[in-house]
Amino acid sequence: MAINNWKSFLVPYEQAVDELKVKFKSIRKEYRKKNEYSPVEFITGRVKEISSILEKANKFGIPVDRVGYEMEDIAGLRVMCQFVDDIDRVVELIRTRKDMQVLYEKDYVRNVKSSGYRSYHMIIKYQVNMAEGPVDILAEFQIRTLAMNFWATIEHSLNYKYKKRIPEELQCKLKTAADAAFTLDEEMLMIKDEVKDAQKLFEVKSAIISDIMNKILTLISLGKIPEASRYEKSLNKLIDEGDVSELSHLLNSIKKEVDKYTD
Ligand code: GTP
Ligand code: MG
Repeated sequence: MAINNWKSFLVPYEQAVDELKVKFKSIRKEYRKKNEYSPVEFITGRVKEISSILEKANKFGIPVDRVGYEMEDIAGLRVMCQFVDDIDRVVELIRTRKDMQVLYEKDYVRNVKSSGYRSYHMIIKYQVNMAEGPVDILAEFQIRTLAMNFWATIEHSLNYKYKKRIPEELQCKLKTAADAAFTLDEEMLMIKDEVKDAQKLFEVKSAIISDIMNKILTLISLGKIPEASRYEKSLNKLIDEGDVSELSHLLNSIKKEVDKYTD
């Protein structure tokens, strides 16, 4: 990277971050469409600021033309999970993908850092197809729970405030908070099945409700206003209190009604 063309140096990294975000959002969508639980809750990504790249290169004595090979986190992705055992599922998912190659991993979930930091890190090689051909770049994945992310975000801003010299007493409190967050993760894991069931039920119900709404709209577009408003009333009654079987029943009935006019 020559200092004067760092903008074009960063283009493939921006492309990679955009692509990887889309790919992980699709994984989540795919699970949801199948009405299955997704180990990916959400993903964020960023390209390191040029000032931070230069600062880090300086600190580690990386020559500017070696930055692309030696700095692994110019492209950074964060995958957030609801439960701590989802992390392993995401790790496995990344390991088996054909569009990225894992170079190495750091398990700060089982080997917590002295700061209290927990996350699973994976450094990957990823190919982006640029206008002038393929380019291999390095990217860093950080896979963590929502609780770990909450902690890391706060600790990061304190590090920023204290310029990486957090007073010892505060460090101690942060370590305690990190362990409390992890205890929360472990307790949530114990009720995971219960939570998954509830979320699944919610998704099944919303899917049926949206099907019914679409059928009501169809009735309206067919000019069957009284029928439409009758179903709308029935749906309103069921929205809060109705269970899946009552909603399915209503859906079947409105499907038949629509079929009467569309066959
Ligand atoms: P870097 O110089 O940051 O690349 O550190 P490293 O090469 O030793 O890698 P490490 O895997 O330890 O850290 C990489 C990244 O993980 C950092 O840039 C942070 O985003 C995150 N991280 C690591 N340790 C901590 C920590 O104690 N607190 C917070 N908030 N984030 C951390
Ligand atoms: Mg690093």
